[in-house]
Amino acid sequence: MSETIKRTILITGGAGFIGSNFIHFLLKEYPDSLRIINLDALTYAGNLENLQDIQDNPHHIFVHGSIEDKDLISKLCTDYAIEGIINFAAESHVDRSIADAKPFIDTNINGTLSLLTIAKNYRLQKFVQVSTDEVYGSLSSNPEDKFTEDTPLSPNSPYSAAKASADCFVRAFHHTYGMHTVITRCSNNYGPMQFPEKLIPLMILHAQSDKQLPVYGNGLQIRDWIHVMDHCKGVWMAYQYGKSGEVYNFGGNSEYANIDVVKLVLNLLDKPESLISYVKDRPGHDQRYAIDASKALTELGWQPTITFKDGLKQTVEWYISHPEWCSHIVNGEYLEYYKKQYQQ
Ligand code: NAD
Ligand code: TYD
Repeated sequence: MSETIKRTILITGGAGFIGSNFIHFLLKEYPDSLRIINLDALTYAGNLENLQDIQDNPHHIFVHGSIEDKDLISKLCTDYAIEGIINFAAESHVDRSIADAKPFIDTNINGTLSLLTIAKNYRLQKFVQVSTDEVYGSLSSNPEDKFTEDTPLSPNSPYSAAKASADCFVRAFHHTYGMHTVITRCSNNYGPMQFPEKLIPLMILHAQSDKQLPVYGNGLQIRDWIHVMDHCKGVWMAYQYGKSGEVYNFGGNSEYANIDVVKLVLNLLDKPESLISYVKDRPGHDQRYAIDASKALTELGWQPTITFKDGLKQTVEWYISHPEWCSHIVNGEYLEYYKKQYQQ
């Protein structure tokens, strides 16, 4: 290890959307003093192209493996003197969880439990669990109604049920073993390198190639959109300054109905609204998410800085300027999934 490197952090799921953005953020902020071990199983959502520009960076070590593999995690703790873990690794897509919940139990619950167990055995200093606002369930249309950290867990999809379950294990390890744990719960992210099964990249790619844009149900469901970089900054603040045993919500203060997001995308790409196609609704579709992030502001000094309109424009530009990334990702597995999901 270089003389200047003081700290080594294990980041899981770092080949995925948020994890890879987070690693880029850390390496830019701390070019010399931090070493990152990036453990990723490279599922369909993991993409080494997200890490291409840092593959030769000596401060980033990629390890191909699963968070369920306790022997591997132990070895990483021994070999690299890991200070703490930030767990991004997950099965992350609600629609896939509705089709088959098993991988969600394996990774999101059992994988998190493996990480917690090894973190306890090796007495790691910190454990951050990157969770989601979806564990709180769905909100009414009253704009005053927002998720706080005290909102009871009420998951409605197999994805959010698995994430809520993992959160309960994190809480239990803090309570039972006195581990330093922090849970972050963020609203819907968007930005570069997001896999095109999620709303915004899917709509961008479809609009670009004049394919129909499939809007579930009436399109009036509301999400609170946050740029991935604002989320990354929040996770890092939670790792550094979060109080042990606490939960921090992050949100973008940007509530939009899905149909309005789709129209904004079409507008940015100068495409007609006639491309919109209303399709069968998602079973158990949550109506509204919105975050009260006042605790993160008070305790961590965090607040979102990128407006949705600016961030969406930048994101559309990123997809336009990365045609290779897009064409590589839209491969056989993705097309097969798409056909099954949208019954085409
Ligand atoms: P993603 O699906 O893009 O990436 C997940 C990554 O985890 C992939 O690289 C995948 O290969 C890896 N992975 C999956 N199973 C693994 C395993 N068993 N072992 C090791 N790696 C494994 O997901 P994302 O959107 O980047 O989400 C990252 C985290 O943030 C997740 O925990 C998710 O629940 C949470 N989150 C996401 C959002 C969002 O809007 N995307 C919002 C709030 C919270
Ligand atoms: P998604 O990006 O899957 O995130 P989440 O389900 O975690 O909120 O979906 C965001 C919203 O967009 C959600 O209300 C479902 C809706 N949606 C569509 O209308 N059409 C689509 O093709 C997709 C993928 C999502």
